[in-house]
Amino acid sequence: MNAADEVTFQVVGAGRIGLALAAMGPSRLVRRGEPVLNAPGPVVVCARNDDLDAILALTPAGRRADLCFVQNGLLGPWFAERGLAAPTRALLYFAVPSRGAAVEDGGGTVVTGPWAEALAARLARGGVSVEVVDARRFEAEAVEKLLWSCVFGLLAEVYQAPVGNLITARADEVRALTDELLEVAEAAGLPRPEGDVAGRLMAYSAKIPGYQGGLKELPWRNGWFLARRVTPLHAALMAKAAAPH
Ligand SMILES: NC(=O)c1ccc[n+]([C@@H]2O[C@H](COP(=O)([O-])OP(=O)(O)OC[C@H]3O[C@@H](n4cnc5c(N)ncnc54)[C@H](OP(=O)(O)O)[C@@H]3O)[C@@H](O)[C@H]2O)c1
Repeated sequence: MNAADEVTFQVVGAGRIGLALAAMGPSRLVRRGEPVLNAPGPVVVCARNDDLDAILALTPAGRRADLCFVQNGLLGPWFAERGLAAPTRALLYFAVPSRGAAVEDGGGTVVTGPWAEALAARLARGGVSVEVVDARRFEAEAVEKLLWSCVFGLLAEVYQAPVGNLITARADEVRALTDELLEVAEAAGLPRPEGDVAGRLMAYSAKIPGYQGGLKELPWRNGWFLARRVTPLHAALMAKAAAPH
């Protein structure tokens, strides 16, 4: 028995990710309206970004350092504003299409922070290929994942197509939009991932071809980029997405 088998995780949010994670090992599922217990162990927040403040308010002060975040999007400013210095974070490169559905692993999940080892072991036990990385590498990978969400979410909204279709029919736009947003991120002080970023984003999409993204959580994703700089392709696609289909 290893550490991940022994530790009871509190899993906040009984949605797609929360239910999948809770099924991977000893867990206490915290459903909406239930408190986070003041018990030792990781507290994995599996709710959406806009619910993070509500969950922080439910968390006993002594457990804040145990919070583990799996959200997509740009979380750094929110952590800083809430005084969460270096929380455990995961970038989940797997999909759970619906509540209770099997995990579809895309490979490349990374975890960092105080509970990284335990969370990685738990995910591995659930069939997810995962690596523990240092904060620096995590930040660069987080930018890459942010770009994946923004690029494929927006193109999916405009063309009403799953990612497998977008990488064949819209590869040029995937590349151009990725490059445009990379420049904005770098100018805002975020680390620039090395090498062929667009190529890696498309390779990940090829592993989950049926996944259809959409424009979501704008202030944490595309809206953050637009607020920093209005760039031509991004702005044009956002306008198309806003127009009636
Ligand atoms: N699904 C994926 O494949 C995937 C992949 C990678 C990362 N993620 C990230 O993981 C996070 C969760 O995604 P998801 O797909 O699991 O979302 P989801 O299916 O919408 O589930 C979110 C859950 O959080 C619950 N919740 C909201 N506020 C709460 C509160 N105050 N206390 C307790 N529970 C609360 C919701 O409850 P109600 O049902 O009552 O609203 C819902 O059950 C998101 O940030 C997403 O970006 C998802």
